[in-house]
Amino acid sequence: MSNLIEMKKVKKTYQLGETEVHALQGVNVKISKGEFISIVGPSGSGKSTLMHIIGCLDIPSEGAYHLQGEDVGEMNGDQLADIRKKFIGFVFQDFYLLSDVTAWYNVALPMIYNRVPPRTRKERAINLLEEVGLADRINHLPSQLSGGERQRVTIARALSNNPEIILADEPTGNLDSVTGEGVMQIFYKLHEEGKTVIIVTHEHYVADQAERKIRLKDGMIEDEG
Ligand SMILES: Nc1ncnc2c1ncn2[C@@H]1O[C@H](COP(=O)(O)OP(=O)(O)OP(=O)(O)O)[C@@H](O)[C@H]1O
Ligand SMILES: [Mg+2]
Repeated sequence: MSNLIEMKKVKKTYQLGETEVHALQGVNVKISKGEFISIVGPSGSGKSTLMHIIGCLDIPSEGAYHLQGEDVGEMNGDQLADIRKKFIGFVFQDFYLLSDVTAWYNVALPMIYNRVPPRTRKERAINLLEEVGLADRINHLPSQLSGGERQRVTIARALSNNPEIILADEPTGNLDSVTGEGVMQIFYKLHEEGKTVIIVTHEHYVADQAERKIRLKDGMIEDEG
């Protein structure tokens, strides 16, 4: 069976005026369907850059990235958007919820782009909010929710198109450890249901519970568990 994710000698270089920033410097990694992985490493080691490439938000400067056997480096913007919509659920700290619409509407939003009929969208959004323990918060605005609740809305939203891969960049970063553990329980459940879950984290209690821990240092994989 082929790997879900396979990177060979992936480099990412950002051009900042005259200077080049070498965010990734030759990453080789293989991830199978259904794995539960944590990515750790110091600030600036390339974790978010790697997540952006895995999630097809960006492409490598050099090297090859195959997702389900397809060469992502060869894709144009529309094809990348299509892959993201179908395969990937993002739980990133800087992917904010819309502040002036309810929790259920935030969750339903990505379904519009996937042409899900309106009635199904609402039903499915409510089911997802129930799954993450927010049955009694569906009509709340983000400003009326706690940090942990907002993060759970983000997770429900990430699941709205039933993605194969869940990518989370510091999903517990702004939460106290009890709330964070509650959010982690949702990821464990998704893993048990067969999803591929990849989480960037600074927290040991999060990292140590993954099946495999990938450690980045200076844009390279130091240890892949
Ligand atoms: N858009 C960009 N333009 C220029 N340099 C960038 C850009 N994005 C990231 N970098 C640089 O690339 C390197 C890796 O950044 P990245 O965000 O991947 O680190 P990280 O491991 O996620 O760090 P943190 O733990 O602080 O989130 C850093 O030196 C950063 O300054
Ligand atoms: Mg980061």
